[in-house]
Amino acid sequence: MKIRHSIYIASLAGLAFGFASCGASGDHPGYEYAPQMYNSVAYEPLTQIINENEGSWLSSREDGKGEFFNSNINNPYRMNMREPVPNTVPRTKDGYLPYRLKAFELEAAAEIENPIELSDKVLAEGLVLYGQYCSTCHGAGGEGDGRAGEVIGGVANLKGGAYINLPEGHIFHVIMKGKGRMGAHGSQIQQERIWKIVHYVKQEIQKQ
Ligand code: HEC
Repeated sequence: MKIRHSIYIASLAGLAFGFASCGASGDHPGYEYAPQMYNSVAYEPLTQIINENEGSWLSSREDGKGEFFNSNINNPYRMNMREPVPNTVPRTKDGYLPYRLKAFELEAAAEIENPIELSDKVLAEGLVLYGQYCSTCHGAGGEGDGRAGEVIGGVANLKGGAYINLPEGHIFHVIMKGKGRMGAHGSQIQQERIWKIVHYVKQEIQKQ
C-alpha cells in the first residue's frame, strides 16, 4: 500500500511541476528544462554571453558568476574567436591561394604556369574531367561539336588554328572565369582539377 501511495504522490508532484513550468508571465519566465539546449556550453565563435548571471542557478564556478557567462574582455567585438593575424591569406578548399585575376585580365593569366606535374595519371584524370565538364559543348575530340554546343552555337574548336597555341594559363583562366559565350566554371571545379584538364587539352586534344 505504501509504495502505491508514494508513486501516486510522486506523479501528482510531477504533474504539478509540469503545469507550473508552462506558466510564464511578468518577471517569471517559467522553468527551463535543460537550459544547455538554449545556451550552448561550448563557446560560440562570434558571440559571447555577457550576462554575468546567465545560468547562475546551476553554476559551480569559483568566481560566483553564472555557468554560461563567458565574456572575454581581451577579444575585440565580443567574439570568443581571435581575429586572424593581419595580412592572413585564406586558402581554397584544395589548399590553393585564391585566384584573384579578373575575367578581363587574360594577358596576365597567360603567364601563369601549370603547377601540376605532367604524368600519365594526370592525363587519365584530365580525360575523365574533360568528359564531365567540357565535352558536352566542345565534343569528345575538342572540335566544338558537342551536343549542347550545337544548341549554343559558336563553340570554339580547340584544334582550330587560333586556339592550338593558347598558353596553358590562358586556358586555365577561360575555364575559371569564362569568356564570351562560355560560362565560368571556377565555382564548380577545383583549381587543381582545372590544371589537369588543361594538361589534357594541351597534350591529348591539341596534339592529335
Ligand atoms: C556550355 C558550353 C561550354 C562548356 C561546358 C565549355 N565551353 Fe569552352 N567554350 C564555349 C564557347 C561557346 C566558347 C567560345 C567563346 C567565345 O569566344 O564567345 C568556348 C571557348 C573556349 C576556349 C577558347 C577561349 C578563347 O580564348 O577564345 C577554350 C580554351 C575552352 N572553351 C575550353 C573549355 C574547357 C577546357 C572546358 C571544360 C572545362 C570548356 N571549355 C567548357 C562553350 C563551352
